[in-house]
Amino acid sequence: MAQNWTPSSWRDKPIQQVPEYPDLAAVAATEERLAKYPPLVFAGEARRLKTALANVAEGNGFLLQGGDCAESFAEHGADTIRDFFRAFLQMAVVLTFGAQQPVVKVGRIAGQFAKPRSSPMEKQGDMALPSYRGDIINGIEFTEDARIPNPERQIMAYRQSAATLNLLRAFAMGGYANLENVHQWMLGFVKDSPQAERYRKLADRISETMDFMKAVGITSENNSSLRETDFFTSHEALLLGYEQALTRVDSTSGDWYATSGHMIWIGDRTRQPDHAHVEYCRGIKNPIGLKCGPSLTGDGLLELIDLLNPANEAGRLTLICRFGHDKVAENLPRLIRAVEREGKKVVWSCDPMHGNTITLNNYKTRPFERILSEVESFFQIHRAEGTHPGGIHIEMTGNDVTECTGGARALSGDDLADRYHTHCDPRLNADQALELAFLLAERMKGGRDEKRMVVNG
Ligand code: TRP
Ligand code: MN
Repeated sequence: MAQNWTPSSWRDKPIQQVPEYPDLAAVAATEERLAKYPPLVFAGEARRLKTALANVAEGNGFLLQGGDCAESFAEHGADTIRDFFRAFLQMAVVLTFGAQQPVVKVGRIAGQFAKPRSSPMEKQGDMALPSYRGDIINGIEFTEDARIPNPERQIMAYRQSAATLNLLRAFAMGGYANLENVHQWMLGFVKDSPQAERYRKLADRISETMDFMKAVGITSENNSSLRETDFFTSHEALLLGYEQALTRVDSTSGDWYATSGHMIWIGDRTRQPDHAHVEYCRGIKNPIGLKCGPSLTGDGLLELIDLLNPANEAGRLTLICRFGHDKVAENLPRLIRAVEREGKKVVWSCDPMHGNTITLNNYKTRPFERILSEVESFFQIHRAEGTHPGGIHIEMTGNDVTECTGGARALSGDDLADRYHTHCDPRLNADQALELAFLLAERMKGGRDEKRMVVNG
């Protein structure tokens, strides 16, 4: 076990991004209640995810992580969850084919409720109120009442997470995620896309492969791996009181696990090595993500790796890089070289969302071209360094929202007002998310062809 660590040792460290609860006794009472509730995930599942991520770290897999920037109480419903899962699975099929490797599927879902903010106060006109920090903490409405942090919301977030996870497990194992279904949905997307011509080639090759499998007798009726999929949950471990209440000892190994989700990550704003968030995360055994932004140095990263993964266990640590399309070339190589020099085992993932936010017509938005460009640079840089571009981390929804500009339907700044629904950052809509998967799959295939030519040369 990590030295001098307990589930509450983070409380003795400096901490960023804490809400100011007016009634601390009520917070403690809520945490006590939560500590008695059943875990949302179980340790064996987190270990299974770690094994899958270890394969990715070794170059034999790809991580697809995505979902809402922030889940909300208001949008909690079966349709939202189903539509997200439907888009996400289609991306997974396309990427599996593009990479010719297993895709590890991790949602930003069933627990993604707490948001770090750049300012503790929000100003509208001449009124200033505490910033919205996610539905697990306060309400988004710009009123004094809504913005007071309320611990009862932690109970609501827990219950929503349980219900969401329950439906996702049913979908993943109960037939909805059947590869044959997902393949049909994907063909529907291609048929309706303005870029149908472009995507058809890849779609046809997937169809041929499916037909071939059927011809040799591999079908979803006789093969459970076509019928089912492993789906995991993740969120930012920001509200540490909630995380602590759900931190439990695994009875088979005696180790501590966060049971609020399978994987949790540390944000770019809360990754100070001697602060609370790193302290909490170092002691639990789950797979951990670390957001890496432009201010992170090679040595700073190595210090964090030694704290979070002292045994250099593959699959434990995923580095989620979020630089911006114009900053990735300047920042990523130094991190890769530091990690390679010291022989550290990590999954390299690209978050092309958070460094590419701009304001247009008073809306926060992200141009699709910049998102694609950051992922492309990420792939190119890894190819040049001889390392494995192991995954992407995106903010997306299954709904037809208008939050990011661009894509095949060429959403413009004027379209943003139509269906701008996010509680926090702009998300790719279902079509844009799937397009990104197609464009990446094309690149992955290109990369493989290049390698083959070198080998056969
Ligand atoms: N079980 C395999 C996997 O998860 C194949 C599969 C079944 C699949 N349903 C899927 C892949 C849906 C992607 C999406 O990879
Ligand atoms: Mn976000």
